[in-house]
Amino acid sequence: MKKDILVTGVQPTGPMHIGNYVGTVRNLVNLQNAFRGRCLVFVADYHSLSEDYDPKKKQEQVLMLAAELLAAGLDPKKVTLYVQSDVPEVTELAWIFNTLTPISFLERMTQFKDKAERQRSNINVGLFDYPVLQAADILLPKATTVPVGADQVQHVELSRDVARFFNRKYGETFPEPKALLTETPRVMSLADPSKKMSKSVPGSFISICDSPEEIKKKMRSAVTDVGPKEEGMIPPFANGRMSPGVTNLMTLLREFGTSEDARRVEAAYRDGSIRYVDLKDLIAARIAEHFVDFRKKRASLLKNPAKVRSVLKRGGSRVRTMTRATMTEVRKKTGLR
Ligand code: ADP
Ligand code: TRP
Repeated sequence: MKKDILVTGVQPTGPMHIGNYVGTVRNLVNLQNAFRGRCLVFVADYHSLSEDYDPKKKQEQVLMLAAELLAAGLDPKKVTLYVQSDVPEVTELAWIFNTLTPISFLERMTQFKDKAERQRSNINVGLFDYPVLQAADILLPKATTVPVGADQVQHVELSRDVARFFNRKYGETFPEPKALLTETPRVMSLADPSKKMSKSVPGSFISICDSPEEIKKKMRSAVTDVGPKEEGMIPPFANGRMSPGVTNLMTLLREFGTSEDARRVEAAYRDGSIRYVDLKDLIAARIAEHFVDFRKKRASLLKNPAKVRSVLKRGGSRVRTMTRATMTEVRKKTGLR
């Protein structure tokens, strides 16, 4: 029987935040045991070049992200962890996919529109073509399952389109992959709860390596309601609805607090006896507790970068070996050789 393949990537653009963790990484830690097939997780360094960055820092960011994925619980015996640029065939496949992808499909991508808005002086072709490279990441190993946060669903859908375009033109080759979401696929920004939490937006996130003091400070600054002062009581439900900021806090409490915490807070919220600052401090304490072990493992891995590098190197060569036949098949079918 054919085994399923799972693949996902994270960009090395800064320390991982609680949105990445709740939206994808924690799920990967469970899936590495539960998924019936191979799990591939990679550091998307090619993708990260499309944003403004300092080349001198890139290697450090790659290593840090790999150390964080391991410290969060990924086991290299169960998951193949690799760096995207160690499998340069993805760029070759992305080029072939470029020739199949209508420009109009990329023009619809909301991430491109957001990023172009954010980095107006660097709206490069890579930023636009980003989802096609992502399709190559997914289809090269013939993946069927792609665990991601809600922001990436549109990209996974594009990779399904690309698979279909290829299969139609050159014959059945790639399966159509599906996105796999968690219960909380979108954690919102602390600074603006109408936008997603993102590494590239300062003030929007809490890193999972932050110290308890930093977490508390960032949590206290989270935007909740427009209206009463932060020190005040949280007003009870207006028409049974919470503001986006409070909803986001409740989500974080559900993810990191105990069920008793959630019950107590919900009840206090309903009768108007809870203060913002208490809710924020409780969540901050729970997040800090949740990552105690992570912080220790991360620090120890960062002291031993050679160990992390060897995991990545092994992973990269494994993926190259497993995808060699696909590239030969693609080259033949497209008439390249
Ligand atoms: P960022 O946008 O913060 O740079 P990445 O692009 O590296 O994060 O995303 C890595 C993974 O984390 C992807 O699967 C993405 O969908 C998920 N993710 C990113 N931000 C969030 C969020 N705010 N909530 C839930 N999942 C998220
Ligand atoms: N685009 C993804 C993000 O910004 C990262 C990524 C690159 C990815 N290639 C991928 C995710 C392939 C899943 C599969 O989060």
